Amino acid sequence: MLVCIPNVLDAAQLVSLRERLDRANAWVDGRVTAGYQGAPVKFNQQIDERSEVALACQRIVVPALERNPLFISAVLPNVMYPLMFNRYGEGMTFGAHIDGSVRIHPHDGRKIRTDVSATLFLTNPDDYDGGDLIVEDTYGRHAIKLPAGDMVVYPATSLHQVTPITRGVRTSCFFWVQSLIRDDQQRALLYDMDGAIQRLNQTNADEAARRSLIGCYHNLVRQWSET
Ligand code: NI
Repeated sequence: MLVCIPNVLDAAQLVSLRERLDRANAWVDGRVTAGYQGAPVKFNQQIDERSEVALACQRIVVPALERNPLFISAVLPNVMYPLMFNRYGEGMTFGAHIDGSVRIHPHDGRKIRTDVSATLFLTNPDDYDGGDLIVEDTYGRHAIKLPAGDMVVYPATSLHQVTPITRGVRTSCFFWVQSLIRDDQQRALLYDMDGAIQRLNQTNADEAARRSLIGCYHNLVRQWSET
């Protein structure tokens, strides 16, 4: 299930984030965190995970994610890998790959299973050419290029790539989440069900029926979730 989440960041948060990232001197070769599959096809830069600027930028984005109902509903996060920041200048690209299944948390060493991959766009599409995120799933290829502040989440099992930049610079935040619900199909069912419940709530539909549906939702989460 691929979900686009609009307006994760507002204009002021975007400016603050971009100012920090654009003047940062903690940009390093993106291959420092790539596995053996990704390294030969990865040509970009990312902010050193241990740098002050990475932590400062995380402090802007994480609270915005935690209060975004669509993000919570679509991802049902359990553990989030510390958010990372990358950029692609002209000629940079990330060829087709599947993200590594398990990552080691850089601060406490615990293992995080990557169920969901996320890209939060920090550059407006007018400011660069190329740099589409292409995600392949059972329904085909999806080319994604969202306004700055918008985010896409997709199953980490998907083959994906970033096409070469031909003009400008594309800066993004990216990260992985270990979801409470490991299975993408189960997560998609819960997302659809939650959306339907929210719409029924807005129309003040039959209260007993809504209560029953909400109960079913939570009982499914209880049955399927792992913490
Ligand atoms: Ni990737």
